[in-house]
Amino acid sequence: MTSFAFPPSFRFGAATAAYQIEGAAAEDGRGPSIWDDFCRTPGKVLHGDTGDVAVDHYHRYADDIALMRDLGLRAYRFSISWPRVQPAGTGPLNPAGADFYRRLVDGLLEAGIEPWPTLYHWDLPSPLEKAGGWPERDTAARFADYAAAIHDVLGDRVRNWTTINEPWCAAFLGYASGEHAPGRVEPAAALHAAHHLLTGHGLAVRAMRAQRPGNRFGAAVNLYAVSPETGDPADADAARRVDGMQNRFFLDPLFRGRYPADVLTDLAPYGFDPSGTEVAAQPLDHLGVNYYSRFTVSGLPGTAAQAVSSPYSTLSPWVGSESVRFVATGRPVTGMGWEIDESGLLEVLTRLHREYPAVPLHITENGAGYDEDAAPGATVDDRERIAYIAAHLRACARARERGVPLEGYFVWSLLDNFEWSWGYSKRFGLVRVDYATQERTPKASARWYADVIANGSL
Ligand code: FCB
Repeated sequence: MTSFAFPPSFRFGAATAAYQIEGAAAEDGRGPSIWDDFCRTPGKVLHGDTGDVAVDHYHRYADDIALMRDLGLRAYRFSISWPRVQPAGTGPLNPAGADFYRRLVDGLLEAGIEPWPTLYHWDLPSPLEKAGGWPERDTAARFADYAAAIHDVLGDRVRNWTTINEPWCAAFLGYASGEHAPGRVEPAAALHAAHHLLTGHGLAVRAMRAQRPGNRFGAAVNLYAVSPETGDPADADAARRVDGMQNRFFLDPLFRGRYPADVLTDLAPYGFDPSGTEVAAQPLDHLGVNYYSRFTVSGLPGTAAQAVSSPYSTLSPWVGSESVRFVATGRPVTGMGWEIDESGLLEVLTRLHREYPAVPLHITENGAGYDEDAAPGATVDDRERIAYIAAHLRACARARERGVPLEGYFVWSLLDNFEWSWGYSKRFGLVRVDYATQERTPKASARWYADVIANGSL
């Protein structure tokens, strides 16, 4: 087998998100977010789990930094909780909230780990949802204000900033299928939610860049390889539609300032108003790609693959293309039911390079979730996760050989954590967390990843 090498500058890291790990939901002035509210709505999150305590990272961040240092991580992607730093979603910053991130960032820098924050990983302050949420344009303006306020505090020590995480999920799972917070089932509003996430990104980049032009700004999108099941034209059209809504709906505004024409045609019945899209296309210093799987789709009648993004999901998040059928191909799946296909990652990266302007890329999320049992303190021998990450890192190395400017890779996730509607039932961590005691135990994958980082090769 070929052994793949990465340059010493390659950012090997791991990722988390505030609501999934921090806990301390009502401490030091943090306000409620749509996820706090959603978790309290019966039948939305498995076992009624919440992020109230999560893995208590808010109190254990110093130990978690030490853990990252032991693993040799070069960068750490985390998210800043908007309701922690600006509890009402407008107005002055909460000093205790901002101070938490200052301490986190300083601790990382001291440990030689590059901080890589994301400003929005789905935890909209509840008052903003009460005022209409992302379907309202004003939310984009509020987001830019929040971004500028926290960038003002941390911009002297954090160079690389990511605005929004996976706007597809925030908009379409949140407002169309309702399987994520805020749980609304309003397809037309979901389109405007996506539009305002993109415009909010643009406004935020503009505001932050005006403060510190030397910092670097980007967004993180979840891209999929999409294949038609057969050569039938109906399947080709299904693939065009899903690629359109999942990938191009976000990439085209970010890079070109407009939505794809074919997608706008599909969406004609929804009264979608794309005005002001140009602002989404601020020059990007980097783009984050979250990659997990390939979709195989069909426009013909047949058996649909089980819906797997939520234990409760029955509605389609594919606004305008609800009848597209997702097909199980028989490839091995992770514990999320997501098909494992690293060739899709290579395809996504080379396609980005071919069709969009060159910009430094990072894999801001990639990893595998399982229902892992373990006795307290026992090491988890997670060979499937190692195989998954190794295969995808090989795809990264291949992409680099083909000239794709891929500069880093963040495993999802550093720690087992709150997996949204799946609650604590799915574990993605390199590090096991015993949820009763909060004890952290590195899994076999953590040791393996530490070796990969130390050797710079597979
Ligand atoms: C992504 C999310 C992340 C995590 C992984 C498994 O969609 O960005 O928070 O839940 O999936």
